[in-house]
Amino acid sequence: MSRSFENVVVVDHPLVQHKLSLMRKKDTSTSSFRRLLEEISMLLCYEVTRDLPLVHERIETPVAPMDAPFLEGKKVVIVSILRAGNGILDGMLHILPSARVGHIGLYRDPETKQPVEYFFKVPDMEGRDALIVDPMLATGHSAVKAVSMIKAKNPKSIKLVCLLTAPEGIAELHKHHPDVRIFTASVDSHLNEHAYIGPGLGDAGDRLFGTK
Ligand code: URA
Repeated sequence: MSRSFENVVVVDHPLVQHKLSLMRKKDTSTSSFRRLLEEISMLLCYEVTRDLPLVHERIETPVAPMDAPFLEGKKVVIVSILRAGNGILDGMLHILPSARVGHIGLYRDPETKQPVEYFFKVPDMEGRDALIVDPMLATGHSAVKAVSMIKAKNPKSIKLVCLLTAPEGIAELHKHHPDVRIFTASVDSHLNEHAYIGPGLGDAGDRLFGTK
């Protein structure tokens, strides 16, 4: 069945898909899982930064002068939703080594089931492009909250980068923030009764940090 979602970019490059399949396998080790997430994050970073504007500056190569393209404007900010977002952050920093970095910590209130902030530290966001990163867009509640927190800091733009997404999470995010484009390696089929993405890959934080 083919489904299309507005404002969602599925990065279907064969390298991304191959590495994602390796990550999904339940017997993949923690070290392999971590390395694969880092590698896929570099490839997702390549796609999500495709529209960054360029300016030309005069330089001298050893052979001749030329007008060479450079990234324009202020440095990008990568905002990691703790804790699994750090797995994507590490990969993206290889491609964007000068990026500024923010962290958002959220836990799920056992009564209300809503995300509650426990940590928020971001650089000055005015006029900067923000990339919010979290491997799993499941119910979408954390992503909605994180985007609201970042919007309050007046960035120039916000994109959300998730390794895997569920249709329910996409719908929830876009109900509240239809302007935020989602970049993902896969839109999986469903959420199960425990709010895990199916077929998914299990608990991304546990697999990344070996805490299971
Ligand atoms: N968070 C995870 O780590 N895995 C899921 O499947 C859903 C949310």
